[in-house]
Amino acid sequence: MESESRIVDVEDVPDDSTFLFTVREGFDEKEVLLVRLDGEVAAWRNYCPHWTDVRLDKGSGAEFRDGDIVCTRHGATFESDSGACTHGPCEGAYLEEVDVTIREGAVYLTDDDYEFEGLGPKSDRDLSSGRIGFGGS
Ligand code: FES
Repeated sequence: MESESRIVDVEDVPDDSTFLFTVREGFDEKEVLLVRLDGEVAAWRNYCPHWTDVRLDKGSGAEFRDGDIVCTRHGATFESDSGACTHGPCEGAYLEEVDVTIREGAVYLTDDDYEFEGLGPKSDRDLSSGRIGFGGS
């Protein structure tokens, strides 16, 4: 049976940016970004396929250009609806999709690989940097 967790109201997902939440996969927390499409939403894991330790949404929403998600590190652009990189050093790569659905005005996580953990970034995240630290203080 499919387990579903309510994430957020659809109207709280921005039109021109992303909404960040966290899921759990086993012992690991993973960040996911929600994007609002025309009457739908899509969810992508929050990393760039070019350098996988670079987040697209650094905590205040990913940058958008002409409806595409932009990686600010080297300028790659990704289609919001397909996750395809259409320009930049990882052109042809895809963002990793997370299954979500809309029901009665709310977005639900429906991906069997993940459990909903919470809203916002990972709990151990250092928001001062766009890259993951290597432990220590
Ligand atoms: S890290 Fe995203 S384009 Fe290079």
